[in-house]
Amino acid sequence: MIKKILFLSLLISSLAIQAAASGENSEAKPLPKGNAANGAKLVGTCVACHGADGNSVVGQWPTLAGQRESYLFEQLEHIRDEERVIAVMKGLLNDYSDDELRDMAAFYAEQTTKVSRADDTNLALGQKIYRAGNVESGVPACTGCHGPAGKGLESAQYPMLGGQKAEYVVTSLIAYQTGERAIDEHGKIMQGIATRLTVEEIRAVANYVSGLY
Ligand code: HEC
Ligand code: HEC
Repeated sequence: MIKKILFLSLLISSLAIQAAASGENSEAKPLPKGNAANGAKLVGTCVACHGADGNSVVGQWPTLAGQRESYLFEQLEHIRDEERVIAVMKGLLNDYSDDELRDMAAFYAEQTTKVSRADDTNLALGQKIYRAGNVESGVPACTGCHGPAGKGLESAQYPMLGGQKAEYVVTSLIAYQTGERAIDEHGKIMQGIATRLTVEEIRAVANYVSGLY
């Protein structure tokens, strides 16, 4: 068991290193970029929940402002194709082409994230999980992929977490645990990590990232 956990954490850290290394190479081969000005014209129906500038005001609605463009595009595709099922967004993206989804992603990525202040409860535990993981249960540090300031990594489609709504982060981690969001290789990476977190750790790390920048 210990061996297995050790192996998993080694595997995860080597994935993180690979991603960081490919981040450097990606300068030569950038992922396709969308047109933010065109994206701005396509997000009219999204404002009610995600906010005019992509900063949501309701805990269950994720903030999109400042999110990594590559990650947003990947999620928009999954949502449109109903691989990631979001009941309240059903059908909303049906009429958009891949290029239009890219433009929407570019628009939100350009907006500035409004970071809220994390609650004092559980802050120390949240910080510990985020920065050091949990060696006993084999949870890797979140910084390895999401970065010390929670900015994520564009080239590897690792999402920004800093300033994300705590309630939404809790829902997401539970959706990885249950397998609901383990729909591709990226989702499976997070499933492997989320299943090792306790409910208490999930709440604490979600609170911590909501105030991280
Ligand atoms: C009725 C409210 C509502 C509307 C309208 C809506 N969304 Fe969402 N959206 C949500 C909720 C709720 C989630 C998170 C669901 C979950 O828990 O996984 C979400 C998730 C997302 C995500 C994934 C975010 C992440 O961090 O993974 C993206 C991207 C997104 N929405 C884009 C859009 C766009 C673009 C539009 C307009 C075309 C839109 N949404 C309209 C409620 C809404
Ligand atoms: C090995 C790299 C890696 C590590 C380490 C990692 N993550 Fe992730 N994380 C990812 C990837 C890749 C995704 C995107 C998964 C997808 O496509 O659904 C992600 C997505 C997420 C999301 C969903 C974000 C959103 O907007 O919906 C949350 C929340 C999250 N991670 C939290 C954490 C926490 C908390 C930790 C530390 C305990 C952690 N991650 C460690 C790679 C990692």
